[in-house]
Amino acid sequence: MIIAIDGPAGSGKSSTAKAVAAELGFRHLDSGALYRAITWAALEADLPVEEWMQLDARTLDSLDVRSIPAPYRFDVAVRGRIVGDEIRSPEVNAHVSRMAAIPAVREWLLGALREAGRSGQLVADGRDIGTVVFPDADLKLFLVCAPEERARRRLREQGITDDPADEVRREAARLQGRDEIDSGRAVAPLLPASDAVVIDTTELTFREQVDSIVELARSAGA
Ligand code: DC
Repeated sequence: MIIAIDGPAGSGKSSTAKAVAAELGFRHLDSGALYRAITWAALEADLPVEEWMQLDARTLDSLDVRSIPAPYRFDVAVRGRIVGDEIRSPEVNAHVSRMAAIPAVREWLLGALREAGRSGQLVADGRDIGTVVFPDADLKLFLVCAPEERARRRLREQGITDDPADEVRREAARLQGRDEIDSGRAVAPLLPASDAVVIDTTELTFREQVDSIVELARSAGA
């Protein structure tokens, strides 16, 4: 069984997908982590950003980004080393949407993502999981959330717990900038699959969000 969870940046897809997978005993695949790892590896390798459009499969192979099955998740390795928070740095945040808009990069990752789908019960999250990667997924969810609430959640994640309006506005603008690139790109843009269940999480607690998806998954046979 494959459950696809898509949605914009900061909608809580990854943490929700991870919790849903844990509850169902499935494996979680965070596809954004692979786009982030490629971006991080390209920055580390000093590949000039203005030349990324010309990246081909051979150069992508040489970055050596891999998804490795582990209990209940996939680890992401770059040149044999499992990566962690370095792929979530502000620098990677600022460049990853540009990397993810490159057709050769998406093509390169499609094989790796589909291969992961062959490893058994899966909850995969991203932007095009239900539309392109697993169009035959058993259950498709599309999470949406107001930009200011997404910004507040992001800031909370970074340990910024008070609520300075300016900071929230700035973060919301950054998230909307990424949404625009992700939604406006020619290849596999961010959009709900026609058969996806759309869930607005703005007013939901994390628990409510996870419970509603687990319930849908159980009704779908999980
Ligand atoms: O979900 P995230 O913020 O970790 O995703 C990082 C970037 O990767 C985001 O800008 C969009 C892109 N992405 C994508 O284009 N397709 C996916 N399936 C997953 C992520």
